[in-house]
Amino acid sequence: MKNMCLLAIAISLTSQAVWAQTPPAPLPKKDVFVADLIKQMTEAEKIGQLRLISIGPEMPREMIRKEIAAGHIGGTFNSISRDENRPMQDAAMRSRLKIPMFFAYDVIHGHRTIFPISLGLAASWDMDAIGLSGRVAAKEASDDSIDLTFAPMVDIARDPRWGRTSEGFGEDTYLVSRIAKVMVHAYQGVSPALPGNIMASVKHFALYGAVEGGRDYNTVDMSLTRMFQDYLPPYHAAIEAGSGGVMVALNSINGVPATSNMWLMQDLLRKEWGFKGVAVSDHGAIIELIKHGVAKDSREAAKLAIKAGIDMSMNDKAYGEELPGLLKSGEVPQSDLDNAVREVLGAKYDMGLFADPYVRIGKAEDDPVDVNAESRLHRAEAREVARKSLVLLKNQSETLPLKKQARIALVGPLAKAPIDMMGSWAAAGVPAQSVTVYDGMRNALGQQGTLTYARGANITDDQKIVDYLNFLNFDAPEVTNDPRPAQVMIDEAVKAAQQADVVVAVVGESRGMSHESSSRTDLDIPASQRALITALKATGKPLVLVLMNGRPLTIDLQQQQADAVLETWFSGTEGGNAIADVLFGDYNPSGKLPITFPRSVGQIPTYYSHLSIGRPFTPGKPGNYTSQYFDAPNTPLYPFGFGLSYTEFSVSPVSLSAKTLKPGAKLTASVTVKNTGKRDGETVVQLYLRDVTASMSRPVKELKNFQKIMLKAGEENVVQFSIDEDDLKFYNTQLKSVAEPGEFDVQIGLDSQNVQQNSFELL
Ligand code: NOJ
Repeated sequence: MKNMCLLAIAISLTSQAVWAQTPPAPLPKKDVFVADLIKQMTEAEKIGQLRLISIGPEMPREMIRKEIAAGHIGGTFNSISRDENRPMQDAAMRSRLKIPMFFAYDVIHGHRTIFPISLGLAASWDMDAIGLSGRVAAKEASDDSIDLTFAPMVDIARDPRWGRTSEGFGEDTYLVSRIAKVMVHAYQGVSPALPGNIMASVKHFALYGAVEGGRDYNTVDMSLTRMFQDYLPPYHAAIEAGSGGVMVALNSINGVPATSNMWLMQDLLRKEWGFKGVAVSDHGAIIELIKHGVAKDSREAAKLAIKAGIDMSMNDKAYGEELPGLLKSGEVPQSDLDNAVREVLGAKYDMGLFADPYVRIGKAEDDPVDVNAESRLHRAEAREVARKSLVLLKNQSETLPLKKQARIALVGPLAKAPIDMMGSWAAAGVPAQSVTVYDGMRNALGQQGTLTYARGANITDDQKIVDYLNFLNFDAPEVTNDPRPAQVMIDEAVKAAQQADVVVAVVGESRGMSHESSSRTDLDIPASQRALITALKATGKPLVLVLMNGRPLTIDLQQQQADAVLETWFSGTEGGNAIADVLFGDYNPSGKLPITFPRSVGQIPTYYSHLSIGRPFTPGKPGNYTSQYFDAPNTPLYPFGFGLSYTEFSVSPVSLSAKTLKPGAKLTASVTVKNTGKRDGETVVQLYLRDVTASMSRPVKELKNFQKIMLKAGEENVVQFSIDEDDLKFYNTQLKSVAEPGEFDVQIGLDSQNVQQNSFELL
């Protein structure tokens, strides 16, 4: 204890001394400052700046500090508190040129306070709520000395077999692009140089969400028109919003790995889009060029990557070990090295680190006594955002909201699952601080009603899957199974159900099932839980399914068995309270699906904005030789944009301010939306457009705008959308963004399927 105190004093003194050295004078302009610094750097110091090191058990901290003091490391990730990072920054301040380190972390959906997973955030369709989650995350991360996050992750995901579907904002280009902007602004605030803000690095550039078969790290093969039209805009939006960094994807694109892709990194990112920030490789991606089969060894891998414009090498040794030789032989010109160093130093400048290397680390005496202290959390914000992310998928006979006086049986392996509640990539979130569904319902009920809990089933009884999910978790197993026989658990749950007025079953996936490297071929709720649901249905009691999952699941049978279904994703620190708010009607649900739910894996892809085809299937007109599966409907289980409320809304026919639109002009499409039910509620009014005839096949519809509106019971409001030529543009076969004259359909509705339609002509 005494030693610890002394150590604390020593640390605090060193850093105070360093603190006092921080130059107070304003710095010269970035270009001048960075160019001047580069002139003073040795080759080894330059190479050092390109190394981004993961802090983990394999790297003793003392060794890292030595390397930093020698100028051999540019930044770290996974070290996430001020007292851990201060000694590293102190080491950097002892280095010859005192170039500060930056500290990065995967702050994806919250830092200490965990918000819903990104897919859940998207389901709110509420830009203020999403922005709030990003602001809180930035503030908390900055308070913990984090300078940079590897987020937002804006990969369009149209194949839910991909485990990282959970980490992005869904299938739709427009929605994801809007969110990309909001998140960059939220993280960076007015400037990433200021404390309270952190730099964003949009990822994974590019197209990672389109890996073949939804299998993680697989290859991507895609037409250029689809790329430009559907998959690239979200990254572009983030860059236009000022994202200081870009993380490069692990996949190849049409045969060329992103990490060595000159076209992607130079022609598109730097030249066409004018990106001026830092490009960071993904973890070990440079060395992986060997396995991609484009580099014969690490020397060639380093050469390809630096030539493509990968400025920083995340956690592989390629740059450190190979660049000296490559520079000596002239295979890599000095200018390539200097370009990369310039971007890294420029990013540090933009993070405010040259002005004050301790801008986020602060002074030791201000360090939190307990980094996990309750007082550091933002629970109210988390609850507010989480309840907006919940999507009501079914509510037969007004099963929901529940009455607080009722006898409720709460069952299912996810009802008391604090780890799962946080979802994957839960940054510095502490599972013990998350509110489970059980806790949330208990909090809501107080002394009223009765709540009986029975686990009912394990998440899965497949031991191989349990082992896989626990494989990489050093601290604690992610999934722990109840050793009782499955039937014993089911019997216990059935007994609880029989004695209750209503059953709430919390079922779905463990968080690790929807994660990096967690692709699935089967999107069913695992068999153990399906058996539980069937047994509960057989009791005849009203059955509410609360789904926890990070991707669309194939729940056709289960949604038929249930009276009500609430999609809750993994909803974060305050998830249980937010879910209880909706279950008991203290909040009227307003979320809408940001991704289509298929009926079966065989239907994938089911994204709504597919291209028009020559032999479309016409519902109600079965026949051969049209595009269909003969053994299942074409339609999804739940369409994109779908979500119910405890009230009802009607949408009037679409009226247009004109039937023709001149280039450069605007027209207005309006509908009257009425709350025809008995409760106040919010809904999302969605505008879709269709280019009926063009020089190439166009999607059957594309989201172009939306408004989330609140209407009191009985209230109605006119919702207007302005449409101009930009909304009608697409990338043609020459990759030119054009709006072609002709007819356009305007569709407005509360999901992508049930819409009111009108049309106009672009002159
Ligand atoms: C690998 C992941 O692909 C990436 O998204 C993440 O940012 C890095 N690891 C660092 O954790």
